[in-house]
Amino acid sequence: MAIFASGAGSNAEKIMEHFENHPSVCVKLVVASKKNAGVLDRAARFGVETMILNKTIFFDTNIYVKELQNRHIDIVILAGFLWKVPANLVVAFQGRILNIHPALLPGYGGKGMYGHFVHEAVIAAGEKESGITIHLVDEVYDHGKHLYQATCSVEPTDSPDDLAKKIHELEHRHFAAVIENYIQENPVLFGAA
Ligand code: GRF
Repeated sequence: MAIFASGAGSNAEKIMEHFENHPSVCVKLVVASKKNAGVLDRAARFGVETMILNKTIFFDTNIYVKELQNRHIDIVILAGFLWKVPANLVVAFQGRILNIHPALLPGYGGKGMYGHFVHEAVIAAGEKESGITIHLVDEVYDHGKHLYQATCSVEPTDSPDDLAKKIHELEHRHFAAVIENYIQENPVLFGAA
């Protein structure tokens, strides 16, 4: 598995923890879109190799797709990765890229809907409920098939920070297990895993 992340990497950490002693799945690589992303320290603590991408390499080349293939990566996990995945990666990993979104898609998705902006929008709209969506990635932002959703309440007094905490709890509780189920339920995509 390769995990792509742009920020603190708390989801990446939970996933690395979950698969640390797994018999058939391992996290081989953490790919960051910033050289100061907190996820890099977390990967180092787990002894996982890291790679830092810049926009030119990511959007205009195939270099990193080749790097993933050279390392026999079977599945790509987007865990708080902010760039829209280009077609060459989607084509190379058809049905094998999963993303987590901090809201109940199809609501509150698309360009600009990330991090606190999502929680602000959910609160501003007076929603009583928010949650997480784990979905397959295709070429349209926040669009691929949903694999799993979980919900939490939004109280009238909740700040975006309060909501972010509830959402993180849901993410940490469910993401790794959903990844594991997806791998196990799709042996054709993942060989003998
Ligand atoms: C998560 O809430 C994720 O859904 C969103 O960005 C956040 C990343 O958190 N897209 P972390 O870096 O895993 O702590």
